[in-house]
Amino acid sequence: MEEKTTGRTPLIAGNWKMNLQVTQAVDLVEKLVAKDVVGHGVEVLVCPPFTALYAVSRVVNPAGIKLGAQNMHWEEAGAFTGEIAPGMLAEIGCQYVIIGHSERRQYFGETDATVNKKVKAALINRLTPIICVGETLEQREEGLTDRLIRDQVKAALLGLDPEDVLKVVFAYEPIWAIGTGKTAEGCEANRVCRLIRETVGEINAEASSWVRILYGGSVKPTNYADFAAQPDIDGALVGGASLQAEQFAEIVRVAAE
Ligand code: 13P
Repeated sequence: MEEKTTGRTPLIAGNWKMNLQVTQAVDLVEKLVAKDVVGHGVEVLVCPPFTALYAVSRVVNPAGIKLGAQNMHWEEAGAFTGEIAPGMLAEIGCQYVIIGHSERRQYFGETDATVNKKVKAALINRLTPIICVGETLEQREEGLTDRLIRDQVKAALLGLDPEDVLKVVFAYEPIWAIGTGKTAEGCEANRVCRLIRETVGEINAEASSWVRILYGGSVKPTNYADFAAQPDIDGALVGGASLQAEQFAEIVRVAAE
């Protein structure tokens, strides 16, 4: 495999989505710790559901595995029934938060405008936002991918201090590849990730070479090497395979090679 010399630490992130009760969640991270996933030049992150965050933090924080939430509100506190504030996540040991996942855009009314508010709120609270962008199959077939991705990236970063652009992570998740077993070709995923990088560079030239960009969509131990070898892909946002300790640990191993 071609040696990558980007200076960007690979990030392998597990998005558990709406899966696992607290005991199952703790069991999974205990298995990951036992599999020695930390300390191989790869940052390892798990994003459990809200109910499991605190219990999981007690296992992963001392072990050096990073913790993230899957969503949050942009306000600090107040009358927002059912919502979780950024400070609440930071308090229990979260370092990351996924923002704008396509499932939130699709089913829960997340828009580019709310993504932008959440990105700003995350940064104020020292949480690293993982900003998700991606096109539907229909948009891809109509040739709209590049314009859509650029629009999503620009909207997410609208009004940010250029210095803060250095602190975000992007995840390119083609919607047609999520949970379908279909993946983008490595080189095509890389092309879109480079487009994200160039768009970031229009706001902060330095950030274009520093910002980390993950690929997500049916990542498995068997297909990840193709993505890991791409120069503009710095890791993976893993759904289904992150629920199996062995598979997730194996993806971390591939990233470490
Ligand atoms: P799968 O890996 O299950 O396709 O999910 C990808 C995803 O949506 C991660 O955020």
